[in-house]
Amino acid sequence: MSILIVSPGKKLDSWVEALKEADLSVPVYLPEQVQDPSDITFALAWNHPPGFFRQFTNLRAISSFGAGVDHLVKDQQIPASVAITRIIDPLLSGDMAEFALSVVLKHMRGLTRYCRYQAENQWKKHRYLRIKNVRVGIMGTGMIGHHVANYLLKAGFKVDGWGRTPGRDAAYTKYHGNDQLGDFLKGCQILICLLPLTSATNGIINKHLLRKLPLGAHVINLGRGAHVVDKDLIQCIDEGHLSGAHLDVFDPEPLPEDHPFWEHPIIDITPHVASLTDPHSVAMQVMENYQRLQKGEPLINTVSRDLEY
Ligand code: GLV
Repeated sequence: MSILIVSPGKKLDSWVEALKEADLSVPVYLPEQVQDPSDITFALAWNHPPGFFRQFTNLRAISSFGAGVDHLVKDQQIPASVAITRIIDPLLSGDMAEFALSVVLKHMRGLTRYCRYQAENQWKKHRYLRIKNVRVGIMGTGMIGHHVANYLLKAGFKVDGWGRTPGRDAAYTKYHGNDQLGDFLKGCQILICLLPLTSATNGIINKHLLRKLPLGAHVINLGRGAHVVDKDLIQCIDEGHLSGAHLDVFDPEPLPEDHPFWEHPIIDITPHVASLTDPHSVAMQVMENYQRLQKGEPLINTVSRDLEY
């Protein structure tokens, strides 16, 4: 009855420490420390190698390290009997909202351009956009997207949201389903993607979608790299339809050194840092699920294998 933490390439000391703080009596192992795989009943995972979990025959639940579970849902070798859970944390949503606001303001004030001018000793001024005149569209109005939409609304933006279903009541205009996607897109001066990655949303930000955005629209991807068809995004920017993009997520990650995004003059890149899970903030909910599993109680923050999120 132990917890395994797996995330290749990531330093895991703070995770082990946070779980120990949550409950010192529960044994926590990294993969190289496991002596008896049949002892592992619960795992905390991020980007595990495919098939990795086959050796843990008594595994009953896996928690993602973050809000996204695409890395778990896509692994067909995880038996259906193993529950998948995700992290729901106000810090994650709050950090995402602050990042989204920073990137939106950076675009509105042309800050990337001024960094470039500084490097060239150039004194040049441009007009800028004001918050009250900007409509932001949020694709994906789940827990995080809904929070980001409300945050931007409070900051004074006009905000629309789009999701798979009508979902909860919202203070912003909410579009849903494929039928309403076009109407949603035509109002978005800035599009922010916060969708979960599923078979239905893979490649959703392609040239057909991008061409439905108004001329000069800006695209911000904070969801997953595979939402965007890279070459279509570059094409729509180079054709002059879009005013550029800010991308925080990529497929694959890290973004390969020779990828054209790196050199593109109006694509800004950050290395998947919009919202980082804080181990100390989420250890209690991970431990709670471990304890619920022990007691045979229903888990919290479970995801649907059918919906893939
Ligand atoms: C980050 O990408 C997460 O899924 O929390």
